[in-house]
Amino acid sequence: MKALILYFSQTGGTEKIAKAIQQGLEETGNDCNIIRIKDTNMEQLKVHDLIGIGCPTFYYREPLNVRHLIENFENLNGKHCFIFCTHGSIIGNTFYYMNQLLTEKGMIVIGAFDCYSASSLQFYPEIMHTAGHPDDVDLEEARSFGRKLPSIREQIIGGETHLLPKFELIENTWWARDSKMMTLDILRKISPKLMINADKCTKCMTCQENCPVDAIDVNQEPPEIQKEGCIFCWFCEKICPESAIEADWSAMRASTRPVLKKYVKILKEAEKKGIFRPLVEYEKIV
Ligand SMILES: Cc1cc2nc3c(=O)[nH]c(=O)nc-3n(C[C@H](O)[C@H](O)[C@H](O)COP(=O)(O)O)c2cc1C
Repeated sequence: MKALILYFSQTGGTEKIAKAIQQGLEETGNDCNIIRIKDTNMEQLKVHDLIGIGCPTFYYREPLNVRHLIENFENLNGKHCFIFCTHGSIIGNTFYYMNQLLTEKGMIVIGAFDCYSASSLQFYPEIMHTAGHPDDVDLEEARSFGRKLPSIREQIIGGETHLLPKFELIENTWWARDSKMMTLDILRKISPKLMINADKCTKCMTCQENCPVDAIDVNQEPPEIQKEGCIFCWFCEKICPESAIEADWSAMRASTRPVLKKYVKILKEAEKKGIFRPLVEYEKIV
């Protein structure tokens, strides 16, 4: 079997999981190519038997660049795929929406894997509750998932359709309500405006090359940032080597502080169920 893994990763968590799943697939004698979502084309999808698609959770669901990628797929007529994601405290409806989009393109999701991962957002403390993940235990779980995929696929082909995963839309929680409200318009209104400081910018292109949706043009005068299509991931500000991208996070920082307690509550419940292993003393994170 020839597998292809497509992944979107900014801070490296999803990339580690993608590579661990690839290893697992290869350990069972299968070919597995791996590419970034930005480098994907339809021809590659057509020549592989199994497609994996992985991304971080953004705003309790799949990031918009991933949504747009799948929306642009041609119909793939029953091709098998699996989905994976990394997230901080709340995976939200990421898998539900990914499955919905893939199903609309004729694909059949045969497995899903998710994993906690260090979360870094400018308006949260530098160390968050899920810091340290994915660790070796998570990576072994991802490899094991990869090793199992070929036999699950064979069983499903053999008629054991009860093995197909099911994904339910969660609607009656505070985060599900927040998620519904977080349209691009709202994000544009509530988030601070990023500015390129022309005195510091050396036009090194790091921000432009790493923007997942090509919403930056540093060669414009003045340089343009957060153009139409920006998905509010704020990665450009994080990676600018000159700290030339600036924003005032104070209001957002203050308004999101109360949410930290809610994250701890959710993680403690996950810990009780054996789903989450804290690697930092998360009660100190305030
Ligand atoms: C814009 C943005 C939104 C995020 N939203 C969520 C979220 O809703 N739930 C969550 O658990 N983590 C959220 N995170 C954290 C990421 O899902 C997490 O850090 C992920 O593992 C990053 O993957 P990467 O290292 O592959 O880039 C968000 C991160 C960013 C940058």
